[in-house]
Amino acid sequence: MLSDAIRPDFRWGVATSAFQIEGATRADGRGPSIWDTFASRPGTIAGGDTGEPAADHYHRWAEDVDLLAGLGVDAYRFSVAWPRIQPEGRGRANQRGLDFYRRLIDRLRAHGIEPFLTLYHWDLPQPLEDRGGWRVRDTAHRFAEYAALVHAELGAAVDFWTTLNEPYPCAIAGYGQGRHAPGAREGHGALAAAHHLLLGHGLAVRTMRESARPTHRFGIVLNQSPVVPATPADADRAAARRQDTVLRTQFTDPLFAQRYPAELERIFHGVSDFSFRHDGDLSVIAQPLHFLGVNYYYRLHVAAAPHAEHDPRRRTIADIGVETTPPHDIPRTGMGWPVEPHGLTGALLTLRHEYPNLPPVYVTENGCVYPDTLGPAGEFDDQDRITFLHSHIEAAVRAGVDLRGYFCWSLLDNFEWAHGYGPRFGLVHVDYVTQRRTPRASYHWYRDHIRRARSAP
Ligand code: NOJ
Repeated sequence: MLSDAIRPDFRWGVATSAFQIEGATRADGRGPSIWDTFASRPGTIAGGDTGEPAADHYHRWAEDVDLLAGLGVDAYRFSVAWPRIQPEGRGRANQRGLDFYRRLIDRLRAHGIEPFLTLYHWDLPQPLEDRGGWRVRDTAHRFAEYAALVHAELGAAVDFWTTLNEPYPCAIAGYGQGRHAPGAREGHGALAAAHHLLLGHGLAVRTMRESARPTHRFGIVLNQSPVVPATPADADRAAARRQDTVLRTQFTDPLFAQRYPAELERIFHGVSDFSFRHDGDLSVIAQPLHFLGVNYYYRLHVAAAPHAEHDPRRRTIADIGVETTPPHDIPRTGMGWPVEPHGLTGALLTLRHEYPNLPPVYVTENGCVYPDTLGPAGEFDDQDRITFLHSHIEAAVRAGVDLRGYFCWSLLDNFEWAHGYGPRFGLVHVDYVTQRRTPRASYHWYRDHIRRARSAP
C-alpha cells in the first residue's frame, strides 16, 4: 500500500468544467462563448451536439454538491465561465453570473469541500474572438482584468486559483488544427495564441497577487503526455522531440525556466517570425507559482511521418511530420487511448528532473471512458474504470514528487468537446433526457478509497 507516501494534507477531489456541465447558455445574462459559436457550425461536433443541455448543472448544482459530499471528496475543481461574468469580455461584472458561483462555493464550504477555481477552461467570450481572440495581445490583458475581477469578488471564499486549463489544446487544436473552437487553421496565429495564453496567465497571477490574502495559492494546469519514439531510429526520435516541444516544453520552459525552447523556432521556421514575443514577456510569464496542476490521460507513441524530414516550408501546426502509432499490445480505453499508468509516473519525474524550481504538484485530471456495462440489477458496473483509476493513483504516488492531491475527471458525464455527449467520463452517469444522476460502481469505489486512505495510519 502506498498510503504512507501520501501527505496528511493530501486532497482527494473530482474535476469538472463550466461549458461541459452547466448548460443554460443564455441564462441570467450569459453571453456567447467561442464554443457556442463553434458548436453551432454544422460538422464541428459529433452528432451536432452543443452546450445544451449538458448536465444542466446551472440548475442542478445543489444536487451535484450533495453528490460530492456523498463521495467524501475534500476538494472540487470547477471552472468559472468567463461569458457569465463578462458577457462582452470586458467591463463590469454581471452580478447574476457571479451569484451562481457564490452559491456553489458557499455550499461546497458548508460541506467542508475546498473549492479549486479555474478561471479559464476554454470558453472565451465571443466578442473577444471577434477582435482576434488569443491571436492578439489585448486578450491577455482582458484575461488579467477578468481574473482580477473574479478574484476581488470571490477571494474571501476561495484559496486555490488556477489561471488556465490546458493552454496547449486551446492554442493548437483551436487556432492551428481547427478541431476545437474557434476552429482556425493557422500557423502564426496558433503560436501567437500559445504565447498570449501564457502572457495572460502571468499578467493574471501578477494582478491577483497584488491583493491576495496569505492563504491564496496560484497555479496553472497543463496536460502532460510523455512522448515515446516508436523506434530508436533518428527520424522517430526527432519526430518525438518535435511533438514534445510543441505539446509540452513550449509551455513548461517559459513557465518554469523563463525561456522558450530553441527547437520551437527551428520547427516553425517559415511558419512564424515569433514577432508576438515582446521584451519582458518571459519575466511576466515565469511568475513564481504555488502549484502546478497536471492532467494525465495517455502517453503518445510517435513515428516520423513518411514525409517527415520534409521540406520545413511545408510544415504547419497541424502537420509537424509526426504520426501517432500506439503499439497494438497496449490496452486502450473507449476513446482509443493507450492505458499506461506508468506514463503518469514518468510525466511527473520528467518535470521534477527538468525544472529544479518546480512547485508542488496536483494531478488535476485523470480518468477514462469505457462502454457502460450493466450489472444484474441494471447498475452501472464500471470495473474497468475502477482498475484504471486505482492503477493511476498508485502510479502518481509512486513518482515520489511533492504531490498534494489527485482529482478524478470527472464527477459527471459531460460534453466532451468535439466528441459531443458520446464519451462518458463520469463517476456519475447522467441521463441527458431526464437529467437523472446515477452513481456508477466507480463512485462507490472512489468514496471507499478516500476513506481508506484517510484512515491509514
Ligand atoms: C482535458 C480537458 O481539460 C477536459 O476538458 C476534457 O474533458 C478531458 N481532458 C478529457 O478529454
